[in-house]
Amino acid sequence: MLKRPRAAVFVSGGGTNLQALLDKRGNVIKSGDIVLVISNKESAFALERAKRAGVEGVYVPFDRSDPRSFEAECEKLLAEKGIDVIVLAGFMLILSAEFVEKWDHRIINVHPALIPSFCGKGFYGLRVHRAALDYGVKVTGATVHYVNAVADGGEIILQKAVDVLEGDTPEILQRRVMEQAEWELLPRALELVFERIAAERAEKSEE
Ligand code: GAR
Repeated sequence: MLKRPRAAVFVSGGGTNLQALLDKRGNVIKSGDIVLVISNKESAFALERAKRAGVEGVYVPFDRSDPRSFEAECEKLLAEKGIDVIVLAGFMLILSAEFVEKWDHRIINVHPALIPSFCGKGFYGLRVHRAALDYGVKVTGATVHYVNAVADGGEIILQKAVDVLEGDTPEILQRRVMEQAEWELLPRALELVFERIAAERAEKSEE
């Protein structure tokens, strides 16, 4: 039996995208398992969601004066759990180029806009929606992409457009983008990556 692909989810906050992933295990997400959640915030509600779903959740502190120790600790946990894929789901730190290059095409991120709009350094969370409203776009959306050394610059996997409506506030728009795009795209994208890894593994085992 070939090992099923395994994912770790990195979070920093409420974890609604994590919840969407957990809820879609066994239906949308069929070809691999979510076995670890890592949070850089001790109080993140996402850790509670992991616990309720029976998935191990670990708080790994991030210290600005020693940014590499966060990644070193994560690497240790990822190796222990035999992780193949990292999902950034509302994870608010930027990983180093060195880390990201080691995990080439093995890290995916959900971004709450249609890349290449409203993305890159400084565009995260509500700031993205505030920028979209300030610009006056009539359509925004979400993107799931592979992570490379350029912030929000990796290959796009899935995108979905969402209408901006009269009277939207950043909070209202954020909720619509989550409901109509992020919570649907992220589980589908993870399944695509699991399928790709499982296929690569099967091909290797036949060599
Ligand atoms: C989501 O909208 C996610 O796309 C965004 O933060 C929110 C986290 O919500 N991520 C970024 O802006 C990363 N650049 P959640 O914790 O409820 O999933």
